[in-house]
Amino acid sequence: MNLSGKTALVTGAARRVGKAIALELARRGASVVVHFGGSAGEAQETVGEIEALGVSAWAMQSDLRVESEIERLFAAIADQIGDLEVLVNSAASFESEPLVEIGPGAWDEVLALNLRAPFLCIQKAAPLMRAAGGGAVVNISDLSGVRPWKNFAHHGTSKAALIHLTRAAALELAPEIRVNCVVPGAILPPPGIEEAAESWRKRGLRVPLGRTGEPNDVAETVAFLISSDYITGAVLPVDGGEHLAAPRALL
Ligand SMILES: NC(=O)c1ccc[n+]([C@@H]2O[C@H](COP(=O)([O-])OP(=O)(O)OC[C@H]3O[C@@H](n4cnc5c(N)ncnc54)[C@H](OP(=O)(O)O)[C@@H]3O)[C@@H](O)[C@H]2O)c1
Repeated sequence: MNLSGKTALVTGAARRVGKAIALELARRGASVVVHFGGSAGEAQETVGEIEALGVSAWAMQSDLRVESEIERLFAAIADQIGDLEVLVNSAASFESEPLVEIGPGAWDEVLALNLRAPFLCIQKAAPLMRAAGGGAVVNISDLSGVRPWKNFAHHGTSKAALIHLTRAAALELAPEIRVNCVVPGAILPPPGIEEAAESWRKRGLRVPLGRTGEPNDVAETVAFLISSDYITGAVLPVDGGEHLAAPRALL
């Protein structure tokens, strides 16, 4: 798919990895809906950076844990823009808690944002994409969805299910809509850890390619999957080969 003249919705696009994806799609000619949750100022900055590239951008807020908020987001896209060819499900939480302490409320919150929201966004994007003559979805999973991490049972389960949802949707929405998944490894440190921190540099040394990734490593792969007209249902690690390594606990 040539992105020129197309409209893309990137969830969680105000900052970090989602922002890099939004900017990369804009560099390739797409107009971008910069979805955000709480980062209104950063979303406006991202919109400004996208507009400086010569394409349109809109900042749109929505709490993706709430179905009516997702409906509001898609109603605004339908009213204000009219068409949608690309959806990138990037917004997510990164919650950690011992399995035996995860309450049903915490479990539901994580699954609502990381799994139900991408599902609902795909469901609501599909008619807009079909009306536009076709579309492409990219879901952003996580290595914790490929093999389990301690204290991330809810997060990992949501990201594993997102991989399955990718394949189910790819099968069911073909041939008009392609659905693929990127599985990033260590790209940006979680809140509280600086990128320059020694612990983060050491984290990179455990990766077969010897370093942590960059947001653009993910963004360029997302753009590749959107642009590749004969790829659907693919699950592509962008992790410096980390998925190849045995879990350290088992070595
Ligand atoms: N960073 C990494 O190294 C890494 C590694 C593997 C996988 N990933 C995956 O890549 C994606 C992006 O990663 P990231 O580190 O950039 O993510 P992040 O900073 O943890 O979160 C991305 C965005 O999700 C949005 N969000 C959170 N709760 C929301 C809610 N209730 N409603 C709407 N939006 C909400 C936030 O938007 P606001 O700021 O506007 O509130 C946030 O900016 C995620 O799916 C993540 O799981 C990242």
